Amino acid sequence: MPNLHLPDFSVEDFLSNYWQQKPVVIRQGFKNFEDLISPDELAGLACEEEVESRLVYKTDGLWQAESGPFESYAHLGEQGWCLIVQAVDHWAPEVAALVQPFSFIPKWRFDDVMISYSTPGGGVGPHIDLYDVFICQGSGRRRWRVGDLGNHRQFAAHAALLHTDPFDAIIDAELQAGDILYIPPGFPHEGVSLEHSMSFSVGFRSKSASHMLSGLADYLIDNELGSALIADPKRPPHTQQGRIDADDFARIKAQMQAVLDDNALIADFAGSFLSKTKCELDLQALDEPFYGRELVNELTRHSLIRLGGLRCFYVDETVNQGICYINGERYDLGAACHGAVLALCDNEVLSYALLESWLKQPRLIDALTDWVNCGYWYFQD
Ligand code: SIN
Ligand code: CO
Repeated sequence: MPNLHLPDFSVEDFLSNYWQQKPVVIRQGFKNFEDLISPDELAGLACEEEVESRLVYKTDGLWQAESGPFESYAHLGEQGWCLIVQAVDHWAPEVAALVQPFSFIPKWRFDDVMISYSTPGGGVGPHIDLYDVFICQGSGRRRWRVGDLGNHRQFAAHAALLHTDPFDAIIDAELQAGDILYIPPGFPHEGVSLEHSMSFSVGFRSKSASHMLSGLADYLIDNELGSALIADPKRPPHTQQGRIDADDFARIKAQMQAVLDDNALIADFAGSFLSKTKCELDLQALDEPFYGRELVNELTRHSLIRLGGLRCFYVDETVNQGICYINGERYDLGAACHGAVLALCDNEVLSYALLESWLKQPRLIDALTDWVNCGYWYFQD
């Protein structure tokens, strides 16, 4: 796993002065950084149906974008195009390992690792993103320009490409292998490859109220909650039939507020909603599943690795009861497994030593066995 070095500031400085505030180049954030997968492997992934990918290039000066899967790249030539593959952390363990160096940001904020391969002159054009991104340069050099926040016009340069007008740069830097460019949401930016190059973008996306509330509405329906009707016994006579008066407005709001004020409900919703993946997991169920204590025996010999993209969370509100959320499901391992829940959700690798204190808890063994059998965790070779 690559180790992150912040040569000019500490993680605390980064979080208080840059995170969500301003872009910065972190020179040699990863020393001796090498591509986590090769351009050929990336091109191969983009041929798979389940993998989300795009090609971006220009024809006669006009921007073009195509969605994968792709069958061939031969027609594209040697320059002026790039291939972008989303959520590669789901498909390649080496790439999933790139998330860990950024674990000073909680995993629920993490979106995916996007990789782009670009030929000389290639890039996606000037644009604005809604997420925080650490663009980690792999092989080859790429020039990045980043502009300041402002009223930047956005327009469709192609049906699938939202661009922004040219901007003055506050950062204009050539990135080499191991350099990292951090860009918060809203800053216009553009990368143009100077050579054949690879970049690995670790993206963090926050949530909007509309997204959370629409998820909450689904949660309430699925769990048959929140169906009580607004009650208004002993209401005074109404004189203006068309009016929603202040008292009724307060009743309407109070009914919704009561849902939001129910901490147990919101904790359960947040855990399950945030632990859902936005794209497929590369799940490989075992042909010969583990039974009983077999799994514990195997754990004495090999550690368990969490499948790339699998999201595992607990919420402070309920973790003492041993509750955790994995891939959108709630698991109740019991208060005795409180520590095991922390170990499961806070670590990518589970060793025997890490879990030893709870390996006599039947609920943990049963759950872990199910998770390994369905492919959520797998044994390191
Ligand atoms: C790229 O890596 O080419 C695009 C990344 C971005 O600007 O979002
Ligand atoms: Co971008």
